[in-house]
This record gives sequence, structure tokens and C-alpha cells, in this order.
Amino acid sequence: MDIQDLRIMVAKHATSTNALVALGLAIDARVRGTTLDGDTARRTEAVLGELGISDVVANTSARELAPVLAGIKADLLSGGKLLSEPSESSRHLEDGMRQAFGDVSAGFPLLLKRLIAPLLADLPERLESPGATFLDIGVGVGALSIAMLRQWPGLKVVGVDPMPEAIAQARSNVMAAGLDDRIELRTGLGQDITEENAFDLVFVPSAFIPEPQVRAIVARGRAALRPGGWLLLAMVKPGPDALGEALAYFRTGIFGGTVFEKDAARDCVEQCGYVETRMLPGPAGAPVAFVVGRKPV
Ligand SMILES: C[S@@+](CC[C@H](N)C(=O)[O-])C[C@H]1O[C@@H](n2cnc3c(N)ncnc32)[C@H](O)[C@@H]1O
Repeated sequence: MDIQDLRIMVAKHATSTNALVALGLAIDARVRGTTLDGDTARRTEAVLGELGISDVVANTSARELAPVLAGIKADLLSGGKLLSEPSESSRHLEDGMRQAFGDVSAGFPLLLKRLIAPLLADLPERLESPGATFLDIGVGVGALSIAMLRQWPGLKVVGVDPMPEAIAQARSNVMAAGLDDRIELRTGLGQDITEENAFDLVFVPSAFIPEPQVRAIVARGRAALRPGGWLLLAMVKPGPDALGEALAYFRTGIFGGTVFEKDAARDCVEQCGYVETRMLPGPAGAPVAFVVGRKPV
């Protein structure tokens, strides 16, 4: 490869970046219920038309589009931040980026309700039952917790995060949603929670947590779960080829998170004494999978 090939490769990838910007603008207008101004609308629509996605953007609900927009923002904003401030010390998330990462996860409860929970013994009934409690490790800005309550309005939630800035953002989002009586927020590490036999479901976003901490959380989560309660470990599923794999390690590593080698996450869950463990796929096209396990009854 020479410099000319390099330029061609950059131009090819820049096309994808710009396509995502146009798509992000179009979805942002749908989600906010606004319209783009004349020229921007026309040019954006031309890009969407060439991509063959005008209809799906126009006909999908704002609620389903919002996590897609958040994914685009999380990638582009964090990539731009990394390029503008490459030094390790400045790699903290700003409010807008933290919100985008949170909004990505807000799509998860619908997937959980429709596709994952029905595969897991009594989990649907557990989440509907009085006193059902969810532990959201890495609660971030609270977007996932709030979305859980949209699916299961009777749920109680405890959300834990070591970043005081994240908890402050979560507090304001939870207040704005009128859910402060249902979501308890704590600044702290997931592995330091002290409850025993208290939760029906524990969620762990391993892509944002260093591996030794994920292992400690999985072990501690077993004690914190009620007998028969479920652990849901979200993990990065590296892309289908060598580049996809390298990119998964690159992006996840930058934020200090874990990419588990094949089967390592499930092994970890089994070694911590969970039963009925299995791997489940994430949404189509998303670089995410889940390992689930149950505390023995
Ligand atoms: C991207 S966020 C998850 C988004 C979240 N679902 C939301 O709605 O905003 C991942 C979070 O995990 C937190 N985290 C990292 N290590 C942790 C640990 N050991 N225990 C608990 N949370 C941790 C990070 O501070 C970060 O806020």
C-alpha cells in the first residue's frame, strides 16, 4: 500500500462517516419532532435516498429511532474527542457523550421484554411481581433504568455508578421523568454493593468496566440476587472479521472496558456459581451479545 492507496482508503471511510452524519441529522429531527431547514433537508434527503433508507426513517417511531441516533452520536462524538485530545488523561466523557452512551442503552429494555426475558424461565413473571427489584450496575445517566420502568412500571431500581458526574446527570434525568420514588441512585462501585438476596435482575455493562472489576461484580451479584434471580452481562461481540475484532478492542479499550475472549464471559459466570448460563445474541447488526445466568433456587 502506498500513500495514494491510503488516501483512497480514507476517502472510502469518510463516505461512511458523512453518511452517518446525514442520517443522524434526519433522525434527530424525527426524534425532536422538528424539521430541517430547506437546503439541509433536501441534501440530507438525497443522501438517505441514495442509501435506500428514506422510508424506514420516515416510518419508524421516534422511540425506536432514538437509540439508533444515540449510537451514531456516541461513536462520532467519542471519536472526535479522542482525535482532538489524544492524551490518556483527558479521556473522560463529557455530559453530551455520557447522555449519548446512556441513550444507546435505553433501547435495551424493549429487547429484554420482547426477546430475552421470554427465554429465561420465570423472569417475565418475576419482573411483574410486587416488590420486583432491578440492580443497574453502571447506571450512568439513568437512561436504561428509566427505560426499564417504561416496560415494567411496578419495578424498583437501584442504580450504582462510581462517577459522581454521571450520578448527578442521572438524578436530574430521573427527577425530570418523575421517577425519583422508584429509582435509588448511589455513587459507588458495583462490586461494593452489600445487599444479599435483594434483586431479581442484575445488569452489568462489561464493555465499560475493567475485566477484574467485571469478575468481582459477577461474583458479588450472585450474593445480591434473590434465589432464582438472573444476571445479565452485556458484552462486546467483536465484528465478523479481523478488522471488526481489532476495532472492538480499540474502542472498548479506550474507555477502559472489557472484551471477553470467546466463552470467557460464560466461563466467568459459571465459575461464580450461576446455573442455566447461556449466550444470547444482541439486536441484529449491533456488536453486542449477552451472557445470562441464574442464582440457584
Ligand atoms: C456507558 S455507561 C452505561 C450507560 C447507562 N446504562 C445509562 O443509562 O447511562 C457505563 C457506566 O459504567 C460505569 N462503571 C465503570 N466501572 C464501574 C464499576 N466498577 N461499578 C459500577 N459502574 C461502573 C461507568 O462510570 C459508566 O457510567
